[in-house]
Amino acid sequence: MKAIPASPRNIVISIASVTVMLPLAWLLWQESGWFASAQPDLPPVSASYGPISPIPDVIPDLDLKKVALGKSLFNETRLSHDNTIACASCHQLEHGGDDGVRFSIGIKGQLSGVNAPTVFNSVFNFRQFWNGRAKNLEEQAAGPIHNPLEMGSNWIEVIAKLKQDPIYVQVFSQSYKNGITSDNIADAIATFVRSLITPNSRFDKYLKGDAKALTPYELSGYALFASYGCISCHQGVNIGGNLYEKLGIMRDYFAERGNITEADQGRYALTRNPDDMHKFKVPSLRNIALTAPYFHDGTAQTLEQAVIVMAAYQLGASLPGEDVSRIVAFLRTLTGEYDGKPL
Ligand code: HEC
Ligand code: HEC
Repeated sequence: MKAIPASPRNIVISIASVTVMLPLAWLLWQESGWFASAQPDLPPVSASYGPISPIPDVIPDLDLKKVALGKSLFNETRLSHDNTIACASCHQLEHGGDDGVRFSIGIKGQLSGVNAPTVFNSVFNFRQFWNGRAKNLEEQAAGPIHNPLEMGSNWIEVIAKLKQDPIYVQVFSQSYKNGITSDNIADAIATFVRSLITPNSRFDKYLKGDAKALTPYELSGYALFASYGCISCHQGVNIGGNLYEKLGIMRDYFAERGNITEADQGRYALTRNPDDMHKFKVPSLRNIALTAPYFHDGTAQTLEQAVIVMAAYQLGASLPGEDVSRIVAFLRTLTGEYDGKPL
């Protein structure tokens, strides 16, 4: 591995080593039973959670009437030009919040140019979309409605259709003084999307102090996730979603893959700053076991493959198979609950 100069990332790795590795080493040591005289009482995991914190049980102050309206709109095919596609067509809440295919299928069978991320926990992302072009969920909602490859419509068309439906007219008027407008449609959808959180994964239970929520094998995967430096990019409440990073830091991912598309440009497509070429929002790893295939280009079919690619291109490391299995076992503990039920 090449020498990496001092950078905020390396500092994060150092902090991670102390806040994650020490309690983990302690736990593994306890679990191992190597020392019969070990203290039976485990230390508290961590008062402040370290680089990753658990998902809260609720998002406070959500207007439940708007959540309900947003839910109808999320499932509403009339948001698309030919009334065939809803948000839920590509973001299936019963399948991890995405569609399970490499590229999503929009109106007239067209394929989108990138893999659909999950909608779950997007409230915790600092920006929306792979390249971060939407600054919040309201702005995001307008995207697919207007995208010719996705819903292929526009506000004028959508508003006209919804205004023909007396139920929508009535329900909108209960929450919004000015009834059905583009801002209010986006507001209701965004309010519903904010409610889509998945607390209580086994890893979160572990973070909240249940030391037995993870097996020693899974914990060793977490230790490797921290010590290899995955955690320097995938951290925070969403285990991602709070920074931009280049795909291909240690090796040229795109030259090796070939067929470069506009979607591969990442943030450069917005900023035209050469430093932003191939920079993407680091995606959340929450519920990652449910959202194959992986990466913006949907090229990794399995979690194992995704971990190997990440290690090689982001960290310059070639992982032993055993380490890949342990990290994957850890990633599988990140599946949470929606509406009180396991995803
Ligand atoms: C045809 C499939 C399709 C439809 C319909 C669709 N999406 Fe998406 N969604 C995608 C794809 C693909 C992306 C990634 C696009 C990108 O980053 O350039 C995405 C991204 C998102 C994101 C950002 C998540 C993140 O981590 O950045 C959210 C939130 C979202 N969609 C919500 C919605 C909502 C709300 C609707 C309905 C108004 C909707 N989507 C309709 C396919 C779809
Ligand atoms: C330098 C920052 C960085 C490091 C280090 C890093 N990642 Fe990533 N990770 C990213 C970015 C950026 C993406 C999105 C790449 C893309 O598809 O464009 C990503 C994507 C992923 C995905 C696919 C997510 C999805 O929804 O498709 C997985 C899984 C993943 N990383 C796991 C790991 C693991 C495990 C490690 C350590 C071996 C790691 N990452 C190290 C930045 C990083």
